[in-house]
Amino acid sequence: MEVLIVDDPGTVVADAIAQHVQPGAVLGLATGSSPLPVYRELIDRHTRSELSLAGVRAFTLDEYVGLAQSHAESYHSVIRREFTDHIDLDRVDGPDGEAKDIPAEAARYEAAIVEAGGIDVQLLGIGTDGHIGFNEPGSSLMSRTRVKTLTQQTREDNARFFDSVDDVPHHVLTQGLGTILDAGHLVLIATGSSKANAVAAAVEGPVAAFCPASVLQLHQHVTVVVDPPAAAQLRLAAYYRFTAENKPDWQRF
Ligand code: GLP
Repeated sequence: MEVLIVDDPGTVVADAIAQHVQPGAVLGLATGSSPLPVYRELIDRHTRSELSLAGVRAFTLDEYVGLAQSHAESYHSVIRREFTDHIDLDRVDGPDGEAKDIPAEAARYEAAIVEAGGIDVQLLGIGTDGHIGFNEPGSSLMSRTRVKTLTQQTREDNARFFDSVDDVPHHVLTQGLGTILDAGHLVLIATGSSKANAVAAAVEGPVAAFCPASVLQLHQHVTVVVDPPAAAQLRLAAYYRFTAENKPDWQRF
């Protein structure tokens, strides 16, 4: 696992994603606020004709169950509004939270990712309780796409996108932790002091379902990119900084 403590995580993560971009590549996209600077940077590079996502497709991590796709805060809407409507990506797919048969939809989504050849690089945010995707504490470290119930903490964190916390759905469809681990490269972005405890638990804590993001420690290619406030609880911060400053030129993300 590489931990990068930088003032501008959005640019660094955009570099990490861009290195995978080529026709036929499959990107894993995340929603929430954390990836927004990454998407803005990738769109800017596209606008300047420095980056093309032609021939690239994408899958999102998760979706609210029971929220209409047309709702402004469905992840179907959010990923299009914030990213894919503004760049030449071939197509983006997500789990269908309106499906009548949710377990069947979960199985279909898993199969669609496999049919696409698997995800080359998966972008991740992290919840204040350590969730990735919508895998809340207690999620099986081997889990596949399935329905989950949100914690009250996550519903309160996400209430800012809705009129009130009561409007935040209780249920979601999310790629499982095992699904996420199947991607070739995992890139997690976290910013701000509210993420400091979750980042420390994920990177330096025990691998435990209580902190779902700690499962990243089991993957062989992980890049964690954080700003200084999000890095504030990392005990080995000086080591991560030294490692980054002395990285051999030939070594990529
Ligand atoms: C959301 C999403 C996650 C996201 C996390 C943090 O609920 N399901 O994919 O990483 O919670 O969100 P934010 O980046 O807005 O803090």
